[in-house]
Amino acid sequence: MVKKPFIFLLLTLILILLNQVYVDATLDYAPRNIDTECSPKNILVGSYVGGRSHLKPILDVAAILIERGHNVTLLTSGYYAPSLEYPTFEKSVKDYKETYEKYKSVAKDYNIDLFICDMHINEACLDIANTLKKPVVGMSSFFQFANRGLHKSDPMFQCNISLENESFLERFKCIIVRPLKLFYMIHPIINQLNNFREQVNVKPIVMGQSPKVSLHLVDTFFGFELPQSLPPNVQEMGPVLSEEYPSLTPELSDFMNAHDRVLYVAFGTRFHASTENNNKLLQSFVEAINKKIIDGVVWALVLTPEDSYSSTITLTDGSHIQTSPILNNKHPHIHITKFAPQFAILNHTNTKLFFAHGGAGSSHESLYTGTPMLILPFGVDQMGNADKLESAGVALTLNKFNLDVSDIINKIDFLLKDKNIKKNSERLEFLAKINSKRKFRAADSIEYILHSSNLNEGVDEEFLNEWFPAESRMGLIKGNNYDVYGAWLGIVLGLIGGILWVIFVSISFILKRIIPFFIQKLKNE
Ligand SMILES: *[C@@H]1O[C@H](CO)[C@@H](O)[C@H](O)[C@H]1NC(C)=O
Ligand SMILES: *[C@@H]1O[C@H](CO)[C@@H](O)[C@H](O)[C@H]1NC(C)=O
Ligand SMILES: *[C@@H]1O[C@H](CO)[C@@H](O)[C@H](O)[C@H]1NC(C)=O
Ligand SMILES: *[C@@H]1O[C@H](CO)[C@@H](O)[C@H](O)[C@H]1NC(C)=O
Repeated sequence: MVKKPFIFLLLTLILILLNQVYVDATLDYAPRNIDTECSPKNILVGSYVGGRSHLKPILDVAAILIERGHNVTLLTSGYYAPSLEYPTFEKSVKDYKETYEKYKSVAKDYNIDLFICDMHINEACLDIANTLKKPVVGMSSFFQFANRGLHKSDPMFQCNISLENESFLERFKCIIVRPLKLFYMIHPIINQLNNFREQVNVKPIVMGQSPKVSLHLVDTFFGFELPQSLPPNVQEMGPVLSEEYPSLTPELSDFMNAHDRVLYVAFGTRFHASTENNNKLLQSFVEAINKKIIDGVVWALVLTPEDSYSSTITLTDGSHIQTSPILNNKHPHIHITKFAPQFAILNHTNTKLFFAHGGAGSSHESLYTGTPMLILPFGVDQMGNADKLESAGVALTLNKFNLDVSDIINKIDFLLKDKNIKKNSERLEFLAKINSKRKFRAADSIEYILHSSNLNEGVDEEFLNEWFPAESRMGLIKGNNYDVYGAWLGIVLGLIGGILWVIFVSISFILKRIIPFFIQKLKNE
């Protein structure tokens, strides 16, 4: 047997030898030049819905482009503030012509070279870019708009996020029936959209297809997102995070340092629970503290007229508590704050768990800081995010229709103690950290498109063909080789049919001619 130390010695020796082969001391060395040249250009960032959580990743990438000397103009509705309500698809279609004209005039006034369009109900942005033959980069926080993945679905369609282990019937429902139903539902709106398109001289787009996008950047990462294969024109860039975040206020800092098992609670700005659920949440926090599962709660809470709590709550042990002192920040271990520097709170070592609604931005920050999550999703992409985080082994989820205090407490306890949750959180923290560098790569890709369109003198059919897989140009049948498989199936079936036919003919021949012949012969004898 070779002794272990000896192996190490041998390996070291081989490495030294390799190194000497590689670095030839007799040659001179000069640095490799990796500078790329991209002359400053004018970029328009367009988002129909706006809102801070929605725009933030796009603006983080835009900030890099600005730093590199490009002019970036933002065109959006509303203010750069937490958005209370997002507009609907119907509203965006109603506004289409107006939005289109706005984009058009800004594109002219600012001499725009490239569009970055938020992919969410923002058809006007994509259409104007294509009409002006300018390159367009689409951004979104999930794959639904770009490339859904063959075996993925979403609770939005009442389906599992993964169809891997679903029955045939369930897959049929999720792949064919539910999308068709959705198409049927939005069909009139798409028709209306196409009418408006024709009125501003934009070619109508067939149902189920979307306007052409040069490059699609998706603010997520595999690990959080379920794995799938991607064409080169769809790239992951997430999690996009800022370089700096607001730090803790002195008050919060004191609270955090005085408690070493803090639960951080924040449900975003747009979602409100019912009075019954509000009471249950409050009761769970008080009981979790009483049971010493956690020792502090930081609660980002802006009470609006829609939020209401009962004046007293009965705990599981039968005792009563008043809610107003807690909501007025009189409880020694529950800290309610309007302004919550979320990243800094999650980043603090004493924050052990994040009770969240499962929005993409919050989930990224939690993964980045290795904080496990308890998720109460309210709608849109949050159900899917919650399921993805649960399947990644870093979170548990709750159902808003069926909240139960002891269930909440048990889940908090489990998330704090379970070894696998801890391991998975650390694993995803590492992944999130290395992937957070990809926003620079995203900016690089955008510069490549600018450079390429400059050389190309605009966007034509051939533009960026190096990134578009052939199947995207070949149509449904050729693109999927259905014709070839069809022909192959035809040949196989034909052969089998031929063989069966020969057997059938032979048997009938034997039955009809040969057997009667012998019978006749026998009879004659
Ligand atoms: C960017 O904006 C500045 C100031 O408005 C202007 O001088 C410059 O020409 C613009 N850059 C490009 C590429 O148009
Ligand atoms: C999705 O499927 C997985 C495994 O096949 C299962 O554990 C999970 O409960 C399913 N989720 C939903 C929401 O049906
Ligand atoms: C489906 O089942 C296989 C085999 O049990 C397992 O390895 C895989 O993780 C499951 N997939 C999902 C999405 O639950
Ligand atoms: C995050 O934590 C690190 C140390 O763990 C600290 O250096 C950094 O300033 C913190 N950032 C914020 C925004 O709190």
